[in-house]
Amino acid sequence: MKDYIIKKTRDKGLGLFALRDFKRGEHIFHVDLTKLKKYTVKEIDGNPKLDGDHSDYVGHGKYVVNHSPASYMNHSCDPNCFVKMKIIAIKDVYALRDIKKGEELTHDYTATSVDQFAGKGFWEEKCKCGSKNCRKILHGDLFKLPEDLQKEYYRNLPPSIKRKYKKQFAKLGKMRYQ
Ligand SMILES: C[S@@+](CC[C@H](N)C(=O)[O-])C[C@H]1O[C@@H](n2cnc3c(N)ncnc32)[C@H](O)[C@@H]1O
Ligand SMILES: [Zn+2]
Repeated sequence: MKDYIIKKTRDKGLGLFALRDFKRGEHIFHVDLTKLKKYTVKEIDGNPKLDGDHSDYVGHGKYVVNHSPASYMNHSCDPNCFVKMKIIAIKDVYALRDIKKGEELTHDYTATSVDQFAGKGFWEEKCKCGSKNCRKILHGDLFKLPEDLQKEYYRNLPPSIKRKYKKQFAKLGKMRYQ
């Protein structure tokens, strides 16, 4: 039986929806982007055949075009899933809380975007997640989030990002860098 389905949302284009209940902490799927062809942002933006809306960052300034279920997950400021990165290009999606069949599966894009654009300059977009705690502007700057969220999201980052942004994370107090 399939666990999820891609279908239209009210106002965010396509999205990924649960076809069964998931328990908090349950593994939902694995994503491995290491075998896909890598592009720079310029290459993707300059080629209409490359689907920029489904591009995913794989580190070292490179992106892949990816049509895995993960690429259809929309952002929410009150997500029901989280993404744990083994390395930037290999990740697993887990349920952050109990999820009911029919719910849209979402994660917080800002939690996984810290290294995009080499940590400088971020994309911004009006957030349509509709949650009570909506941050209104969807952006990729983890360091602009409240400290408690930065601490929570730090746990799911790969060692390479923890090392690279060690100074910024140090401001959050005593943390482990592995
Ligand atoms: C990775 S795709 C997600 C799937 C996409 N909705 C689709 O139709 O294929 C990312 C894009 O979805 C839209 N999106 C996702 N979450 C959103 C949100 N909370 N508010 C507004 N747009 C969102 C944005 O256009 C974003 O660039
Ligand atoms: Zn929001």
